[in-house]
Amino acid sequence: MKFFIDTANLDQIREAQSLGVLDGVTTNPSLMAKEGIRGEANIAQHYIDICNIVDGDVSAEVISTDLKGMIKEGEKLAKLHKNIVVKIPMIKEGIQALKYFSINNIKTNCTLIFSPGQALLAAKAGANYVSPFIGRLDDISNDGLSLIQEIREIYNNYKFETEILAASIRHTMHIIDCAKIGADVMTGPLNSILGLLKHPLTDSGLKKFLEDHKKNN
Ligand code: G3P
Repeated sequence: MKFFIDTANLDQIREAQSLGVLDGVTTNPSLMAKEGIRGEANIAQHYIDICNIVDGDVSAEVISTDLKGMIKEGEKLAKLHKNIVVKIPMIKEGIQALKYFSINNIKTNCTLIFSPGQALLAAKAGANYVSPFIGRLDDISNDGLSLIQEIREIYNNYKFETEILAASIRHTMHIIDCAKIGADVMTGPLNSILGLLKHPLTDSGLKKFLEDHKKNN
């Protein structure tokens, strides 16, 4: 399972990278705005900064919603760094853009996936990743994890190479459940990743080992 961090915060990206288990980064316009990154040049530079921290796929989302605009923006983003993956929204023009980028060997991540049908269509169009938003489904009392399961089944049936990138991860249990189902990638906030470390028996066990060592030395 690949681990991506879902943030545009450089300190958090550096911290996750320092663990040695980070495979990539996902961003979106809301996350960029949260960090106060505005204007085309600053946004482009921020993507380059992220790519310089992590040697793995970095999703950069287009803002256009028309085909021409998405292609123009996506090609520009892809030229910023070899690890940029163009993030395309799940709309009709987005499907056309995914097909275009797939023919032109530009990696894509189809975002805002909320149904198995959307994931099937994105895979048919040649998306490298699909991003089902599990937390947002949970928020409206739908089962986000069931969506991951359904997409896994469909992709397995036809051996689609599109990778399931479980997104909108809210907590550590989401990561574990996605791993059990077989999501190819998870993208979550730093805390959800750090949560994997924690167990009270690890802490008390280590404390005891160190105390016993002190007694004998
Ligand atoms: O990057 C997209 C996705 O992970 C958004 O998550 O928490 O805003 O639903 P969230």
